[in-house]
Amino acid sequence: MAEVIVALDFDSREPALELVDVLTDEAGFYKVGLELFTRTGPDVLEELVARDKSVFLDLKLHDIPNTVAGAVRAASSAGVRLLTVHAWGGVEMLAAAAGAADADLEILAVTVLTSLSGYTLGQVLGRPGAEPLDEVERLVGMAQAAGVDGAVCSPHEAAVVRAVAGPGFTIVTPGIRLAGGSAHDQARVATPATAAEAGADYLVVGRAVTQAPDPVAALRRIRAEAGADRRTAETTR
Ligand code: C5P
Repeated sequence: MAEVIVALDFDSREPALELVDVLTDEAGFYKVGLELFTRTGPDVLEELVARDKSVFLDLKLHDIPNTVAGAVRAASSAGVRLLTVHAWGGVEMLAAAAGAADADLEILAVTVLTSLSGYTLGQVLGRPGAEPLDEVERLVGMAQAAGVDGAVCSPHEAAVVRAVAGPGFTIVTPGIRLAGGSAHDQARVATPATAAEAGADYLVVGRAVTQAPDPVAALRRIRAEAGADRRTAETTR
C-alpha cells in the first residue's frame, strides 16, 4: 500500500488550510512546496503539525553542506517528516543533510527533475545524449551511499529506483492521475495503482484532489486505488 500525500499548491495559507479542514481524517500527510513556504514561512508547518498532520517540505535544497545542514536542523525542529535535497549538491552535501536530520525526519534526494528533457540534461552535464534514466540510477546509488533515506521520482522510474536501492529506501512519486483524469501540465502520469505496484511508498497528489469538484471523494478513490482497499479499487477502475 502506498500512502497519499496531498500537495498544498496554493499561494496563501487560507485556501491551503481550508482544504486540510475539508479533508479532515481522509488525509494525514501534506506537501508544502516553494510557493506556499515562500508566502507563509514556517507558520504553515506549525499549523499542520498542530492539526496532527505529517509534513513533506519540498524545498529541493542545494547549497554548501554547512548551509544545507542548518536548513535540515530547522526542518527537524519544525516537526517536518520528509524533506527534499538535490542529489546534484554532491556526496558531501547529501551526507551533511542526512547527518543533520533527527530520527523523525527522512531526507529525500531529487535526482533528475522530470521537467528536464534529454536535450537539456545533456546540455547541463556537457554530455549530449545523456539518458535521464541512467542518471537517475547513478544519482540514487550515490545518494543512498551518502546516507539519504529515499528519493522523489516519476512513477515510470520507480521500479528502477526500487531495483537499485532495495526495499528499505523510501520512494515518493508525483504525477498521479486517476484513469481518464486530465494530465494538466504533467508529461508523464500514472494511476495510483500503477505507481504503487512500481514500488512507490508515497504518492504526491495535487490537482487531482485540490481541483476536484468533491475533493473528499477524489481522495478516497485515489487512496483505494493506491492499495488501501484493492477490492474497491478494482470496482472503481
Ligand atoms: O497537481 P499535481 O498532482 O500535478 O502536483 C504534483 C506535485 O508534485 C506538485 O506540487 C509538483 O510541484 C510536485 N512535483 C512534480 N514533479 C516532480 C517533483 C515534484 O510534479 N518531479
